[in-house]
Amino acid sequence: MFQKLYNPNLREQKEIVVTNDGSCTLYSAEFDECYHSSSDGAFNESLQKHVLPAFKLAAKKEKLTILDICYGLGFNTLATLWYHKQNNLESKLHIIAPELDRNLVESLQDFSYPKEFESFRDIIQALSKEFFYEDEQIKIEILLGDAREEIKKISSKIDIIYQDAFSPKKNPALWTYEWFRDLKQISSKDALLTTYSIATPIRLGLFENGFRVYEYKTDTTRKSTIASLKELPLDEVDMKLKLQRNPNAKALRDSDLIQ
Ligand SMILES: C[S@@+](CC[C@H](N)C(=O)[O-])C[C@H]1O[C@@H](n2cnc3c(N)ncnc32)[C@H](O)[C@@H]1O
Repeated sequence: MFQKLYNPNLREQKEIVVTNDGSCTLYSAEFDECYHSSSDGAFNESLQKHVLPAFKLAAKKEKLTILDICYGLGFNTLATLWYHKQNNLESKLHIIAPELDRNLVESLQDFSYPKEFESFRDIIQALSKEFFYEDEQIKIEILLGDAREEIKKISSKIDIIYQDAFSPKKNPALWTYEWFRDLKQISSKDALLTTYSIATPIRLGLFENGFRVYEYKTDTTRKSTIASLKELPLDEVDMKLKLQRNPNAKALRDSDLIQ
């Protein structure tokens, strides 16, 4: 059984941690976890596990809608902007990022970000004050509140999902079969999801919702998962075989959570 293994009373207790690529992340006492892997590096992890595979593998569209679960320090959103600018991409981006920690977002105008995010100071400022930014090419909305509820208000079809909650053990409500079912409901038919989790219950939750599951690995990060509603040119994980070999394996479900 999973239960809420976090303590909202400790929400304001955070410490800066310098990760292996030199970029800073935070340690959250509330969840007793860091916002990023210190061994993979905060910026490197964001770029390698989420942004690069998403932009290489997602359908090329004039307008991309990205769901960033959850905003946290905003690395996935900001690394997306950085990659988009570096490559002179002309697509329009709409990024939607739920986040329940309002004080964290408000504090980010003073956060020590990597130099790659330097040119986005105005955007970081706007997001930390208004939770919203828009120009001719980019629209970013931070939805303050519980992601389980906030995603039900989304009317756009999502093309890319960065599934980057705290771990299934600490933040189980954002890893269940029902969570992935709700994500699928707001996804486009060729949507792609990136996540650091390689756990079988999480992959099963995706698989049972009709996502194909792929193993992903780069030279500078540990293994991760790409899930997709369309076939991808990657090594597909044979989930049926996994189930045959381990009949007791199960997707994590809302009914497993103790409130
Ligand atoms: C691992 S961090 C996200 C890291 C982020 N992608 C980044 O680049 O900094 C997880 C975030 O999810 C938020 N969170 C946890 N449970 C949530 C929920 N139910 N709804 C919305 N946000 C949630 C936490 O406050 C935290 O900021």
